[in-house]
Amino acid sequence: MNIIFHEKSKTFHLFNNEISYIMTVLRNGHLGQLYCGKRIRDREDFSHLLEMCERPMGSYVYDTDRLFSLDYLKQEMPVYGSTDYHAPALEIVQKNGSRIMDLQFVSYSIEEGKPGLEGLPATYTESGEEALTLRIVLRDPLTEIKVELLYTVFEKYSAVARSMRVVNEGGEEVHLARAMSFCLDLPDCDYEWVQLSGSWARERHVKKRRLEEGIQAIGSMRGNSSHEHNPFLLLRRSGADEYQGEVLGLSLIYSGNFLMQAEVDCHRQTRILAGIHPDCFDWKLEAGECFQTPEAVLVYSDQGMNGMSQTFHRLYQSRLARGYWRDKVRPILNNNWEATYFDFTEDKLVSIAEKAKECGVELFVLDDGWFGKRSDDHAGLGDWQANPERLANGITGLAERIEGLGLKFGLWFEPEMVNRDSDLYRAHPDWILHVPGRRESQGRYQYVLDFSRREVVDCIYEMMAKILREAKVSYIKWDMNRSITECYSEGLPADRQGEVFHRYILGVYDLYERLTGEFPQVLFESCASGGGRFDAGMLYYAPQGWASDNSDAVERLKIQYGTSFCYPISSIGSHVSAAPNHQVFRNTPLHTRANVAYFGTFGYELDLNSLSEEEVCQVKEQIAFMKKYRQVLQFGRFYRLKSPFEGNETVWMAVSEDKRTAVVGWYRVLNVVNDAYTRVRLAGLDPALRYRNLRSGTLHYGDELMNLGLITSDATAGQVPAGVKPCTDYESRIYVLEAEEETLL
Ligand code: GLA
Repeated sequence: MNIIFHEKSKTFHLFNNEISYIMTVLRNGHLGQLYCGKRIRDREDFSHLLEMCERPMGSYVYDTDRLFSLDYLKQEMPVYGSTDYHAPALEIVQKNGSRIMDLQFVSYSIEEGKPGLEGLPATYTESGEEALTLRIVLRDPLTEIKVELLYTVFEKYSAVARSMRVVNEGGEEVHLARAMSFCLDLPDCDYEWVQLSGSWARERHVKKRRLEEGIQAIGSMRGNSSHEHNPFLLLRRSGADEYQGEVLGLSLIYSGNFLMQAEVDCHRQTRILAGIHPDCFDWKLEAGECFQTPEAVLVYSDQGMNGMSQTFHRLYQSRLARGYWRDKVRPILNNNWEATYFDFTEDKLVSIAEKAKECGVELFVLDDGWFGKRSDDHAGLGDWQANPERLANGITGLAERIEGLGLKFGLWFEPEMVNRDSDLYRAHPDWILHVPGRRESQGRYQYVLDFSRREVVDCIYEMMAKILREAKVSYIKWDMNRSITECYSEGLPADRQGEVFHRYILGVYDLYERLTGEFPQVLFESCASGGGRFDAGMLYYAPQGWASDNSDAVERLKIQYGTSFCYPISSIGSHVSAAPNHQVFRNTPLHTRANVAYFGTFGYELDLNSLSEEEVCQVKEQIAFMKKYRQVLQFGRFYRLKSPFEGNETVWMAVSEDKRTAVVGWYRVLNVVNDAYTRVRLAGLDPALRYRNLRSGTLHYGDELMNLGLITSDATAGQVPAGVKPCTDYESRIYVLEAEEETLL
């Protein structure tokens, strides 16, 4: 890893063993982009990469040089208005109304490691040797606005992290209308664009299309990163697949409104932008003030999409997630939501917990309904004290009873919300986001608290911290069940209303920071009606997130498969729930529900007392299995082998770091009649190791399993011999492969 600055050609080259990122100072003083991709040899001068040729009807920066137009020169922090007609990365409205900027290169510095971003989540290093960070300073001479671009290159990851800081060093106030975290001008558009999109209960489905002339974009204006589009995208070269070919992955470490777009121009060059959504964004920067953008992470892989995912997994698991739980296998939990919904008593909860304990569960989680006057979703949000009518001994008493059973205790909160029917709202009606004099839209009978105001965050913090100080709470599920509407804060003047969306999410991060700081051993799981805020920003505070309110095993194949494109398996909240399933009313076998949930944090979302004796035995076996293999499942290397978006079968696997243990999950949605013989070529094994297939008892070398494949054919419908239990729809199997001592086969 290194960052080299070639003085003569004014060229920066950031590289490690995998990736090169090259920029130069253009002759107009702006910062130009020369190359981003597979590592190439360094040289003193790359200026031949600046492709310039006169275009009829073009506009030129220098009328004497008809070759120099920003319309086709690739740039790092482009602005609109001086011959560049693409969407800009930065737009600053000045006192005289002009938005034209002239960002001149001033200086640079290189430091070991990586500085933190104040108030924002970001990747980090634990020692100076892990990364180098380049800080480039640009300046607009007229307004004296300073722009600092941060680029970090990591030693061990094929990734570059980027962010921007804008400092108003001039005497006049300005307004940021757009401040993107990331801009990359690519020389062509020969890519397929892949995004993760869906809706509530159908999050992060994989969607693909070719890049074409015009703008293609995903984003959110809901105040959260959203169920609809995830702040992640990848571009792959034609021919690239899971294991081969070039892929660029881009992830934004942010949980609020975002935009990611690709603009292909008529010369088939592509500009990628990512950052806070510029719609409704308007940040006033007074003299002396600064603005920090969120961080974006670019990953390059020449080993297909799976190679890209593994880089994100390892980087995000170890250098974005933080704290006590970062590297620890996650407790197996039982959550009461789908078991009781709002209909519970303390004794009922304890009876669920007792059964859970008997089965081997480690953590019991009390979901919604324990506080204020909450007996359904019309009341109580905002009043974070236990309801004595339901819990006579409070959270402290219940937690003690649960701990007395030998279980840890966890609790649900929805800190950012309030019901009208609550003491908090009655005391502070102005604390919700709303426009005075206008109708307030509600969602699920609730309103969004104005987290852009410090006193609101302070108040919620005090209520939550009091419970955590008094009761033995080991886990928090932090929910967020509606999007923002009428985004307006009574705490800010008119000319700062464009800041509210971003200040809101900064308030959320602030509350997370305070709570995780004061209670470092509490495990946080983020949630937003399932996966409505499952993003890299959340991962910094909560190392796991409830992936979706849809707990059906078949639906989860697509949701978890898509989620794995960017997010580590240890972060994917996944539970076994009841059959028929409460969201899609499907009856899937108990073993299939577990076989899907193993590839995540694992737990149960049902009352285990409602199961038959035989099913309880199965649950005990499942939990014992998870305890034995969760290190591999959650922290091993994850490989996608067959996509649920492409056929009836899904296959994925996890391999331990030492490659001696692998767990393969095989899933078939519909039963088939007289089917073909099937094999799956595995990945990530040691070719020379001899593995025992614990399902069949047979032995196989790794190279056989990876090249010839694992045989998965079975007697399908119409072929079942007498006495053999036939397969049904929603069949699945787990194959465990364990390396055995070396003797030739
Ligand atoms: C959201 C969550 C669920 C559950 C309910 C409780 O929908 O995603 O898991 O906690 O809220 O109201």
